[in-house]
Amino acid sequence: MFRAMSTAPQSTLDAEVARRRTFAIISHPDAGKTTLTEKLLLYGGAIHLAGSVKSRRAARHATSDWMKLEQERGISVTSSVMQFEYEGFAINLLDTPGHEDFSEDTYRTLVAADSAVMLLDNRKGVEERTRQLFEVCKKRRTPIFTFVNKCDRVGEESLKIVSDVEADLGIMCHPVTWPVFDGNAFIGVYDRRLDRLHLFDRDEHHGSRRATEEVLSLNAPETRARLGEAVYAQLRHDVELLDEAGHPFDREAILRGELSPVFFGSALTNFGVEPFLREFLDLAPPPLARESSAGTIAPTDTRFTGFVFKIQANMDPRHRDRIAFVRICSGKFTAGMEVGHVRSGKRFRLSTPQQFMARERIAVEEAWPGDVIGVVDRGTLRIGDTLAEEGTLEFGGVPRFPPEHFARVVLLDPMKRKQLDAGLRQLTEEGAAQVFFTSPTEVAGPTPIIGAVGMLQFDVMLHRLEHEYGVRCRLEKIGGRYPRWVVGPTAEIERIGRERGRSILYDATGAPLILFEDTWGLKWVLDRETALTFYEAAP
Ligand code: G4P
Repeated sequence: MFRAMSTAPQSTLDAEVARRRTFAIISHPDAGKTTLTEKLLLYGGAIHLAGSVKSRRAARHATSDWMKLEQERGISVTSSVMQFEYEGFAINLLDTPGHEDFSEDTYRTLVAADSAVMLLDNRKGVEERTRQLFEVCKKRRTPIFTFVNKCDRVGEESLKIVSDVEADLGIMCHPVTWPVFDGNAFIGVYDRRLDRLHLFDRDEHHGSRRATEEVLSLNAPETRARLGEAVYAQLRHDVELLDEAGHPFDREAILRGELSPVFFGSALTNFGVEPFLREFLDLAPPPLARESSAGTIAPTDTRFTGFVFKIQANMDPRHRDRIAFVRICSGKFTAGMEVGHVRSGKRFRLSTPQQFMARERIAVEEAWPGDVIGVVDRGTLRIGDTLAEEGTLEFGGVPRFPPEHFARVVLLDPMKRKQLDAGLRQLTEEGAAQVFFTSPTEVAGPTPIIGAVGMLQFDVMLHRLEHEYGVRCRLEKIGGRYPRWVVGPTAEIERIGRERGRSILYDATGAPLILFEDTWGLKWVLDRETALTFYEAAP
């Protein structure tokens, strides 16, 4: 039964859902994610002069009330959510930390996104980090848009970049915009779908303002004269080749995550950014229906539902609060509304939720499907928890991702074992750490082992153990990097796991995993030990 509570009229809800786009940018460090983010915010009018995101980065030492570690290192430990408007669309850009601060959060953020923009450097193509993030999107069939950046600088041949992406990632590509060069100079992009040639003006603003441009049709008589014979002939040739040999445009295939629309541009000079943004907003899906234990929940269902995809502790050191980031899946959220916490069966009031604009927190009065709100939590919420205005439905769990680094936790004050256990339990529940033991009965034994997806996650753990639980520890890295949870006869698991270059660990639930030091040893075992079943994450 629907109850008219804080609900908005159905037509308002439908319209708010239809105009929302929630996405994340996936890229390898240095491809230009910060620059592109800044430019998208510039076009959305959220910042007046691009450059302020970066300068704010520098100013943060003085002003930030976020984690001390973040200040000490001058890097962003947490991913934030940026909301901006553009031509009637409400856009949520979920930031995925990509440098040393790469962690499980980076992966989990993709679960909260409805589409992803894969940003590539035109000289480097697909790099390692991009590939890992791409795989997560692919598994979830998330629509992926490709933006080839830095076209203002000579890079690989455009056709080669596209065919490399196809071969490397096993996804079909359809270039929607195509770069136009005059010699080595990047002068514009041609939108094949809309037959719009955008020619850019180099101005004196160095990308700090919107690019000024002239828009022509490729078939208009003046275009040939405007481009000059050689440039025009090359563009015609390229377009004909793409039409004949490339994959055709197919909106449905894009939405199924099988075809990636490709765009070319330069985030630094803004060239190609706005044509990309317009097409992206048109082609990317609005918030999608999500599967739950009670069937599919449409975003336009009037009952509020959402799930926690990330928990951030101690964003404000003056309060020991934690912020749970909730992705809204259906219905309207109104400040002060009461929701059910499905796992515990308790109800509570969402009284002081916040939205995030770059580094600033803003109190939020209402929010819609696709939006992310930060809910102050006193330790009740966990990653993957569902909040629902009514009923007991639960959304499919937010997946765990296998750690890539492992270290022994050595307690510097042996009397603090209890505090260490409490701290590790809390960090595990939040999804900030994964804890392992060297024997199934050793839970709370002498040396727990922690696993992390990125190295910085270790520093964050140590910092938090010390500052929140008063426990000082040292970490001893261990060699294994490739964990596989394994199901089968215990004697077999022990025989295989005790060989050189491998070790056996048990996770917090007592499930065994074998940790391999190299991919060669891993492959050897996977090929031969067919009596055992191996899983990349806890089964
Ligand atoms: P990231 O967040 O993905 O790590 O990349 P970021 O935006 O910080 O960009 C990495 C470097 O690439 C920066 O140069 C940035 O200016 C440059 N860059 C980004 N987009 C473009 C582009 O379209 N064309 C060109 N030519 N360069 C681009 P840097 O020298 O490391 O930093 P800075 O001194 O410019 O800040």
